[in-house]
Amino acid sequence: MEKKKTFYITTPIYYPSDKLHIGHSYTTVAADAMARFKRLKGYDVFFLTGTDEHGQKIEEKARAKGVEPQQFVDEIVDGIKKLWKLMDVEYDDFLRTTDERHVQAVQKIFKRLYDQGDIYKGEYSGLYCTPCESFWTETQAPDGVCPDCGRPCHVVKEESYFFRLSKYADRLIEYINTHPDFIQPPSRKNEMLNNFLLPGLEDLSVSRTSFKWGIPVTFDDKHVVYVWLDALSNYITALGYLSDNEELFKKFWPADVHLVGKEIVRFHTIIWPIMLMALDLPLPKQVYGHGWLVLQGGKMSKSKGNVVDPVMLCERYGVDAIRYFLLREIPFGSDGQFSNEALLSRINSDLANDLGNLLSRTVAMIEKYFGGVVPSPVQTEADAELVALAEGLADKVTADMDGMNPSQALSDIWDVIKRCNKYIDETAPWVLAREEANRERLGTVLYNLAETLRIVAVAVSPFMPSTPAKMLAQLGLTDELDWSSIERFGGLKPGTIVHKGEALFARIDTAKELAELEAKTPKAPAAQAKQTRIAKPEIDIEEFSRTELRVATVLTAEPVKKSDKLLHLTVELAPGENRSVVSGIAKYYTAEDMVGKKVILVTNLKPCKMCGVLSEGMILCAADETGKLTIVSPESAVASGSEVR
Ligand code: ME8
Repeated sequence: MEKKKTFYITTPIYYPSDKLHIGHSYTTVAADAMARFKRLKGYDVFFLTGTDEHGQKIEEKARAKGVEPQQFVDEIVDGIKKLWKLMDVEYDDFLRTTDERHVQAVQKIFKRLYDQGDIYKGEYSGLYCTPCESFWTETQAPDGVCPDCGRPCHVVKEESYFFRLSKYADRLIEYINTHPDFIQPPSRKNEMLNNFLLPGLEDLSVSRTSFKWGIPVTFDDKHVVYVWLDALSNYITALGYLSDNEELFKKFWPADVHLVGKEIVRFHTIIWPIMLMALDLPLPKQVYGHGWLVLQGGKMSKSKGNVVDPVMLCERYGVDAIRYFLLREIPFGSDGQFSNEALLSRINSDLANDLGNLLSRTVAMIEKYFGGVVPSPVQTEADAELVALAEGLADKVTADMDGMNPSQALSDIWDVIKRCNKYIDETAPWVLAREEANRERLGTVLYNLAETLRIVAVAVSPFMPSTPAKMLAQLGLTDELDWSSIERFGGLKPGTIVHKGEALFARIDTAKELAELEAKTPKAPAAQAKQTRIAKPEIDIEEFSRTELRVATVLTAEPVKKSDKLLHLTVELAPGENRSVVSGIAKYYTAEDMVGKKVILVTNLKPCKMCGVLSEGMILCAADETGKLTIVSPESAVASGSEVR
C-alpha cells in the first residue's frame, strides 16, 4: 500500500492566562483549518499545540495569587483546553512544558549541548523583559524599554550558561538565503536578516539563577533552563525525541510549518534553527509569521486591556461564524482590525444572506417544484460558467492553502456562492416554473445549485467544521466529507431527497446587537490614551503661558559622539539668532533628515549640557505607545521665530 504523506503543523505553546483573547484563538483556529484541510486531502496529519508554563512571569503571577506555580498553571490549562474544544480545534497532542516527558527531554538536550561545548558557563549582565521573557542589549532596548512590548525591562546580572549562537550565525544566514520558503511571508525574512542576523549574533544566556520555576539544569541545580530554550524544544519533545519511543519523531520531523505570531518569529527563526543545527537535526520546512488582530489601532493584548473574549463571541454567534470571520477578514500575513461592525456585517451578508439564503431557497424550490426530489440535469451553454467555477474550486482552495492563504480560500469559495446567487437571478426559476415546457430547464438549474452547494459544503469544512453537516443534511446527503468528490461536477445523484431545515445562520439586528456588543467591548487604547492625558495635575492658562514656544528652522545637525540617541542641532529663531540644541531623536531621524525642518522649540528652558554639548531649548515630539518619536512641525509654512500658543 502506498504510504500516506505526512503533515506536521504546530501552534506556539501558550503562556497560561486565565483569559485567552480572540487574538490568541486566531493562531490556533488557523492551524486547525490547515490541519483539517490536509486531513481532508488524505495526509497523515499531526497537529500540536500546548502551554508554555515555566519562567519568571508565571512564578510572579502565582506568587501574587498566593499559590504554588504548579497549582496556578493546572487551573488555567484546563480552561485553555476547554476553549479549544469550544472552538472545534482538533489537535493531535497538547504538550505542557511541565509534562515529565518534556522536562526529561529538555534536560537531555541541555546536557548534550553542554557536553559538546555549545553551551558554556559565564556571567550575564544586561536587560530582561519579563512579560516577553526576552533578553535585550542596551542598544536594542534604548531607555530600558522593551522594543517588542514597550514595557520597562529590568537589569539582570547573574551567573548564567550561554549558548553559542555566534558559532552558527553564518550557517543560518546561508540556510535562510538558500531556502526562500523557510521564513514566510518574505518581509519577515528581510527583517530577521537585516535587524538581527547581519548585524551579528551574540551568544544567548540560556539559564537563570534568580528564580526557581523552570526545568533544573541536571548538572548544576542552581540554574533553571531559559524559558524559550525550554519552550521551543516542545516541537520535538512532543514527538518523543530522546525518549524510549522516537517513532513519531522519525515519522513527522521536520515539521512542515510552525505557525506563529509575528512578534515571535525571531525566536523561531534564530534560536530554534540554531538549536536544531547544534543537535544535528533538520530544520522545519517553514516558519510562518502571521499578523495581529488589532483593536482600535493597538495589538489586542491583556496588558493593554483591549481584549475581546472568544467565549462570549462563540456563544453569541456560533463557533463557525467566529472562525469564518477570523480567517476571512484578516489577510493571513498582515495585521487586521477587529471591529464589531465588520463581524456583524460578515455574519449578515456572507453567512446569512449569501450562503444561508442560497441553501434555503434551493432546497425550498426543489421541494416546491419537484416534491423534494433532486432532478436530472441537461447542461447547456448557459450553465457552463457556473459548472466550471464550481468544478475548479477544489484546485483553487488547494493552491490557496498551500500558499498559506485561508482568507483567499474563503474568498474563492464565496465567489462560487455569489455566482450561484447571480445564476438564480439570471435563470429566474420561479418564471421557468410557470410553463411545463421549461421543466427540463428548471430541473437543470436546481440540480446545478444543489450540486454546487454540495461542493461548497465540503470546501468550507476545514474552516467551519459544523456547517457542512447541516448543509449536507438539507441536501439529503450524509455528512461524510470527501475532497476528491468535489474535484468533479456531478457527484450529487439525481433522485436524492432534500429536506428543508433551519436557517444556517440567523440574521442579526445590527443596531440592537451593536449597542449590546459595544457595552462588552473594551474601549482601549483610545480611552486609555485619554486617561493618560489627564494623568498630570491640571494647570491654569497663567501657568501654561510661562512656557515660551517658538517655531525654529534646523540649520545644521550632527550625531553627538558617544551617544546613539542624541543629535546636536543648530536652529535659527530669527536671522542671526541661532541656538544650540541637543535632542534625543537619533533613533528616529538622521542628521540629514533634520536639516531644513521647521520644529517647535521650548525656548525658555534653562540651558544644560548633554554629553558635554550645550542645549538651549527642547524640540517638541509626539511619542507613540512604543516610545517612537515623531517631530511636531507647523502644518503650513511660518517664519522662524513665530510664537506658538
Ligand atoms: O508567545 N493577534 O505565547 P503567547 C494575533 N509562549 N495573534 C496573537 C495576538 C493578537 N492580538 N495576541 C497573541 C508565546 N497572539 C510563547 C510562545 S512557542 C515555543 C512559545 C498569538 O501566549 C501570538 O502571536 O503570548 C502567539 O502566536 C500566540 O498567540 C501565543 O502567544
